[in-house]
Amino acid sequence: MTSRSTNAELSESIFIQPFTFNGILWSQHTNTEILQKCSQFKFRSDDVVIATFPRSGTTVTQEIVWQIINHDIIKKGEKYGSLMQRVPFLEMDFAFKGINGKPNSIDSLQTWTKQRLIKTHLPYSFIKDEFENTNPKMIIVMRNPKDNVVSCYNFYCGHEIIKSNIPFAEYWKSYMTGESVNGDFRDFHLQWWSLRERENILIVRYEDIVQQPFQQIRSIALFLGYDLSAEKIDAIVFNTTFDAMSKNEHVNVPLKNGSDKFLRKGQISDWKTWLTVVQNEIMDTWIRDHFTPVGLNFTFE
Ligand code: PPS
Repeated sequence: MTSRSTNAELSESIFIQPFTFNGILWSQHTNTEILQKCSQFKFRSDDVVIATFPRSGTTVTQEIVWQIINHDIIKKGEKYGSLMQRVPFLEMDFAFKGINGKPNSIDSLQTWTKQRLIKTHLPYSFIKDEFENTNPKMIIVMRNPKDNVVSCYNFYCGHEIIKSNIPFAEYWKSYMTGESVNGDFRDFHLQWWSLRERENILIVRYEDIVQQPFQQIRSIALFLGYDLSAEKIDAIVFNTTFDAMSKNEHVNVPLKNGSDKFLRKGQISDWKTWLTVVQNEIMDTWIRDHFTPVGLNFTFE
């Protein structure tokens, strides 16, 4: 595997206008001013924060959490408007540009008086100080890295974060050495995993949400303090399937290239059609060396 410094050059050749802040590579969809504000962002104890490595099941969890919190009004088969506005993305400025005269999500969130549901891909180390001051409820969603790397690659191509014509193998190298935009999958997971015993942290797995949605939605609801009826949970299950969310134009928005959309396949084990035998073996060893020893296991099928 190439060294970190060699790989920094590799990153420059893969991503469109990347920049480094706090030792992490970022895409052009954020900027140093916003990231600076994120590191000082004042959480509140009643915030619910969904923190994920990109493409790990954030969107489905945002919708689940919003529907749990708003269980009084939700109905089976209904759509509820822009998810980015209901559950803003802390370090990006997509949803709130120009709204209420606020230039970005983070400035807007600071003015909210109602309970805040927040999406972020920031690692624990980034928000540690303010997070420790208030202990908001955190839901960390983890997805197996083999499917994750495939999903990231496709999203970054479609959203013009990766330069055109960069093959999967090039992106995969940057992912494996932690030089991709949004940082290192390994650091992100090991940091949050080490906090798993805390009462205000719930770790859920993307694959469990897809395979056992009723149980997962129930356990997220209980974590948030809601003992919902089976009928309510069934409605949330129905509203948050891949199929239902794919048909929701408020959520399944087009990517920058205009042809791809935010929701791609929503499958477990798509990696089998992307990884070579060698890449798969390297990932198995990497997982065995770094995640298995701390008890962090992933589902690949
Ligand atoms: S992002 O851009 O970081 O917010 O993306 P994120 O939402 O974390 O992850 C995107 C992947 O999740 C899939 N997805 C779903 N799978 C199952 N059910 C539902 N409802 C759902 N919504 C999103 C989405 O398709 C991405 O995975 P891939 O493998 O690329 O399809």
